[in-house]
Amino acid sequence: QSQLLQDRFGRRVDYLRLSVTDRCDFRCVYCMAEEMTFLPRRDVLTLEQLYDVAAAFVALGTRKIRLTGGEPLVRNNVLTLVRRLGELDGLEQLNLTTNGAQLRKYAQPLRDAGLSGINISLDSLRADRFRELTRTGELHKVIDGIDAAREAGFQRIKINAVMMTGRNDDEILDLVEFARNRQIDISFIEEMPLGQISEHDRALSFCSSDVIRQRIDQHYPLTASAETSGGPSRYYRMADSDSRIGFISPHSHNFCHLCNRVRLTVEGRLLLCLGNEHSVDLRAVLREHPGDTQRLQDAVVSAMDIKPERHHFDLDDSPQIVRFMNTTGG
Ligand code: GTP
Ligand code: 5AD
Ligand code: SF4
Repeated sequence: QSQLLQDRFGRRVDYLRLSVTDRCDFRCVYCMAEEMTFLPRRDVLTLEQLYDVAAAFVALGTRKIRLTGGEPLVRNNVLTLVRRLGELDGLEQLNLTTNGAQLRKYAQPLRDAGLSGINISLDSLRADRFRELTRTGELHKVIDGIDAAREAGFQRIKINAVMMTGRNDDEILDLVEFARNRQIDISFIEEMPLGQISEHDRALSFCSSDVIRQRIDQHYPLTASAETSGGPSRYYRMADSDSRIGFISPHSHNFCHLCNRVRLTVEGRLLLCLGNEHSVDLRAVLREHPGDTQRLQDAVVSAMDIKPERHHFDLDDSPQIVRFMNTTGG
């Protein structure tokens, strides 16, 4: 390895989250405003350019890539990108975060293209509530999609549930049951304040991971596990199940000191932290010097110098981060 990526705080960066679109067929209440405008096509990186950035990262020691969005599966020809990324030498994990609605169609082709793991968002198991929370989603499609992913034989399938007091916190145990019955993992997430969303008061619906953990623990005693996916999730295990229960707690248990990741938005902005605006415009490099891999790698290496130490989320103020999660790439 010629050069490995490291930031000013000695953190090794070997994980790239690659957003392939800002578009989505859902409108989850915590992610998007009801009326969203999406990026014009001219601002968006081509699949070729997304691949070039990914290849530059892998050449610099990146071992894990996750495709995010928006909803990655609404991007045209995304399978072609997956197939090419799957062939990158040195890449150990190629994962996807999806809303699951199209997995019946895509799970097997994704597996065949070399994808190793899938995370699927699922915040409610009640059809009417699921519709309210996603504004456009249909629960049965997502459940069918989860089953399609299991049938396709992915090593790792994880459910993501963003928990909101008064909206879905009465479903904690139902969601745990759902994961147990299917022998898959589940992570409970504290909502982060990205983008101003009217009629959704994040401070009011804040739901601490500790509360969730205690409620689960009363039914299924939990044992802390040292396992990590190299991500922010803290994992616990139940005695009688292979399912792991994770907690992603940006408010109650800051994990920034372990950060190993950066994000590329579909506009080619390399975001050094989810909760800060520090970024480098890789699209300019790609457009001004097409095919110049050295220049691209140099830009990536020097970007590490501005990776912030941590995020400072505050739910009581209006969000300091104006970009929405769908343009950020989870
Ligand atoms: P692995 O890293 O593979 O374990 O996946 P993950 O659980 O981190 O990824 P996923 O796309 O499923 O995201 C789950 C939640 O974690 C989302 O709400 C993300 O926004 C959040 N998340 C992921 N990485 C970070 C991070 O670096 N900082 C913060 N604050 N949140 C993150
Ligand atoms: N805070 C926390 N998680 C969020 N997600 C989307 N928006 C937010 C937010 N504001 C989650 C989705 C998905 C993952 C990519 O990020 O539920 O599982
Ligand atoms: Fe779409 Fe995911 Fe955002 Fe929901 S959280 S609107 S599924 S990008």
